[in-house]
Amino acid sequence: MNFVVLASGRGGNLKAIIDAVKKGDIQADLKLVISNKEDAYALEHARQAGIPAVFINPKDFSDRESFDRAVIERLQEFKIDFVILAGYMRLLSSYFIQQYRDKILNIHPSLLPAFKGGHAIKEAFDHAVKVTGVTVHFVIDEMDAGAIILQEIVRLDHSDTLESLEEKIHQVEHCIYPKAIELFTRGCLKIEGRKVTITKQ
Ligand code: GRF
Repeated sequence: MNFVVLASGRGGNLKAIIDAVKKGDIQADLKLVISNKEDAYALEHARQAGIPAVFINPKDFSDRESFDRAVIERLQEFKIDFVILAGYMRLLSSYFIQQYRDKILNIHPSLLPAFKGGHAIKEAFDHAVKVTGVTVHFVIDEMDAGAIILQEIVRLDHSDTLESLEEKIHQVEHCIYPKAIELFTRGCLKIEGRKVTITKQ
């Protein structure tokens, strides 16, 4: 199976995925990395690993769907079977989601449905929660709302700062995202409505 990673930022999750592919922990081919940000360090991670790294400039398109059509053209060119969002800071259009229904995964730094949106770690920290965590889920039209594949808890203690919490969350992300991708590629995820069952682990 061929896959793409879409990323807008540092690319910590992308790096973990690249390493998992190299080690054979993910048995699929990472063919392409696309970013909507020219200076995303994720693109650099891809180049260092010899993976085609493509910047597509949103300013060249009049709306979300025409941008997504350009992305989809690239995905077809590379015969991409499924899509991994890793810190991709753009909502996908319905058009995109229809093209890859039940084949788009995202990672979110909270225990969904708590703390949806772009500031999940800070909001959980400011709320002084005792536990938060990480969620890997399928992507649907509604933001951070698709069926949940895996979740992992992260506990806070009194000495945690926002920075130490971010660090803990990212460490967990880098373990569970490759694991979820591998389950997906092995056909171990059965989706029924909101419920994802993990079969034949
Ligand atoms: C991660 O915390 C991920 O959960 C969220 O965006 C962040 C991306 O970090 N969606 P990175 O670019 O993978 O380092």
